Amino acid sequence: MSPSSAEASTSQASTSDAFTTDAFTTLSRLLDDRWTCRKFLPDPVPQEQIERLLTMAQRTPSWCNTQPWQVVVTSGRGTERFREELAEHVRSQPPATDFDFPAQYAGVYRDRRRECGFQLYDTLGISKDDADGRVRQMLRNFELFDAPHVAVVTTEADLGVYGAVDCGLYVSTFLLGAQSLGLAAAPQAALASYSPFVREHFGIPENRRFVLGISFGYADPAAPVNAFRTSRAELDEVVTWSLS
Ligand SMILES: Cc1cc2nc3c(=O)[nH]c(=O)nc-3n(C[C@H](O)[C@H](O)[C@H](O)COP(=O)(O)O)c2cc1C
Repeated sequence: MSPSSAEASTSQASTSDAFTTDAFTTLSRLLDDRWTCRKFLPDPVPQEQIERLLTMAQRTPSWCNTQPWQVVVTSGRGTERFREELAEHVRSQPPATDFDFPAQYAGVYRDRRRECGFQLYDTLGISKDDADGRVRQMLRNFELFDAPHVAVVTTEADLGVYGAVDCGLYVSTFLLGAQSLGLAAAPQAALASYSPFVREHFGIPENRRFVLGISFGYADPAAPVNAFRTSRAELDEVVTWSLS
């Protein structure tokens, strides 16, 4: 994998040929252009736009059409109070999750994680030995990267891992829907490192599990962190063909 800049194309999917349809071109563009925004403008998104986005995300498929996601969406004072109280909680309490976080990142996963992290820190001018700088950037998660809204996605505990998978699909639709509406978003598992606090803050019932938060709004185009783009592995690294 090689680093890619905001200007560079990140996909070959958008290559045009005889099989190209308008839908393919549109979806390829959304996939190529979407990225994780880590600095938002304060401007709120109009309620009708948020509802349009949530209506799109409702089209997500799920096992037996259970649609296990429930979403709390914050705006205005709701976002500010969550941001303030979360920051205070993170300063004073240990992490606690609803789902186990990765046990380790080994091999290629370690490599990809490191590449992504170093590119992010490079973009911000944080050197490899600046541990404080890395922690400061990590803590920006708990300020929701200044976003005016966050969507808190939970799943039904009884539905186990597949309920969480369905929620992952929901998050993907949400991210692409946001992109299609000119919005920026950041999926944040970091918020799930304080899951009991998040559930209590929003009065989420005991039978629900917090999967992740999605901060969203309008990207700050002047923020260096928003110029950072990631690459993807080539097909032959992830696909095995079984032909006979
Ligand atoms: C499930 C999930 C959890 C993530 N959690 C975080 C997070 O806590 N903080 C963060 O800055 N980015 C987070 N990300 C963003 C990823 O780092 C990002 O999607 C990945 O590096 C690919 O970059 P891109 O989204 O810009 O294409 C998360 C993404 C996913 C899908």
